[in-house]
Amino acid sequence: MTSKHTQKTEQQYSQPLAQKALSFETVLALLPWIPAGPVLDLGTGAGQWATALADYGFEVTAVDADPEKIAVLNSREPHIHWLAADIRSEIWSQSRYAALLCLNLFPFLPKSEHLTQLKRIKSALRPGGLLIFSGFSDQDPGANLNMASSQTGEPMPTGTLSLEELRQIFAGWEPWLEYVGPLADDHPPHGAHQHGVVQVIYKKPETALAAIDWQKLPELGAGLGWRHALAELLEQESVADFIEIMSDDFLDPQWDRFLLALSQRYTVIPHGVELSVGSLGGADLAYLEQIARIVARCNSPWWSDHLCYTQTSRYKTWSLNPLPCTEEAHDWVVKNAKQAMQVVGKPLLLENPAYYWRPELPNQFSDVEFLSRVAQNADCGILLDVANLFGNAHNLGIDPYAFIEALPGERVIQIHLAGGRLHQNLLFDTHDQAVHSETWKLLEHTLKHCGIKAISLERDDHYEDLQALVNEVALARQLMGVRS
Ligand SMILES: [Fe+2]
Ligand SMILES: [Fe+2]
Repeated sequence: MTSKHTQKTEQQYSQPLAQKALSFETVLALLPWIPAGPVLDLGTGAGQWATALADYGFEVTAVDADPEKIAVLNSREPHIHWLAADIRSEIWSQSRYAALLCLNLFPFLPKSEHLTQLKRIKSALRPGGLLIFSGFSDQDPGANLNMASSQTGEPMPTGTLSLEELRQIFAGWEPWLEYVGPLADDHPPHGAHQHGVVQVIYKKPETALAAIDWQKLPELGAGLGWRHALAELLEQESVADFIEIMSDDFLDPQWDRFLLALSQRYTVIPHGVELSVGSLGGADLAYLEQIARIVARCNSPWWSDHLCYTQTSRYKTWSLNPLPCTEEAHDWVVKNAKQAMQVVGKPLLLENPAYYWRPELPNQFSDVEFLSRVAQNADCGILLDVANLFGNAHNLGIDPYAFIEALPGERVIQIHLAGGRLHQNLLFDTHDQAVHSETWKLLEHTLKHCGIKAISLERDDHYEDLQALVNEVALARQLMGVRS
């Protein structure tokens, strides 16, 4: 069976997962799709899977019944939580693990115990978690024979499983791999030989996004947009309370390991530009799945993009284009935003972009009415860029104070601060200057009217004076504190 995920992995690795047995490489290719959280390896054996997962950056618990083997592994890789235990004992927590590996352990369990243990495995995974499982099928040469274990000489149950049994137990889970066939093996005393195996990768369903309680979103404080030029600065944790990343720069799974490490140090908020929430014809599902992967990896409390369109049915425009403030545009945005939140599974904030022109259509709403109606009807939040508001006030004559006062304050969750440049009497959102004094005033006014949880500085160039940037983050933090 080929899933959307399998197709992506095929593109990347040119190997159809569903037509070959699970390999070490298969599991490595899966790592970017494992959401944030601990990983459990049941029947770790020589420990190579647990070690690879821990090297990648996951918190790993690995279990094996052989205490001597576990002692050796523990001395070699002390950063992994090695447990000498029978998997039938109470060693795992329910609904906790982001991934659970159980590879060819079930042949060592009597068939009569399979169902109980599979049900425990099922409940051990958290929503969105991945099960990576391999067992012996009735095609295994030793199936249902009372074979002696190659390691201990003890009789071995060799209980087998069928794909149908696994499908029944994990009904409703998303299949990413189902394989029934031969598996090459090579170990003493048999040397090279073949097993018959049944293998699956199943994803536990996500819990549906419930009605969002905006007040309960976490207070993140004052943060900074991650840029290469700021990487060293952000090693000092006192500089920023959280990090905003440009999600479009991290769509390739090659960045996953970096995101895993970053999100273990900071709350990470993905901020994108290619959602194109105002496009007619719906959102790009493949894009949303990549955003969902990043949000799940970072366990981000929310994510954001812009109230604009960046794509037509034929072209990417490579710019954030203003929408007409009409019923029709509102309806498209609401539909697209709802779909986006369903796929990504976390609250979406929409940002007011900087405008330099307006569509020549009769507007039915003002800018702020349009943004507010979208937020209410799509049940999304607002990322208020006060620098964009300052620029739009300059460029288009909007009253920025009236704009702030007309916003639904409980929905304005995050603020952007940045400095722009004046060129031919237009103020451009260049993110390369100090924050303008008028923008700071707009921030203070916003803090009086809105329940802000986070303020982030955006800086894309001119990094000569990093201390000045640090001071701006500190001032934003102070102003948030003054409010409370
Ligand atoms: Fe933005
Ligand atoms: Fe912004």
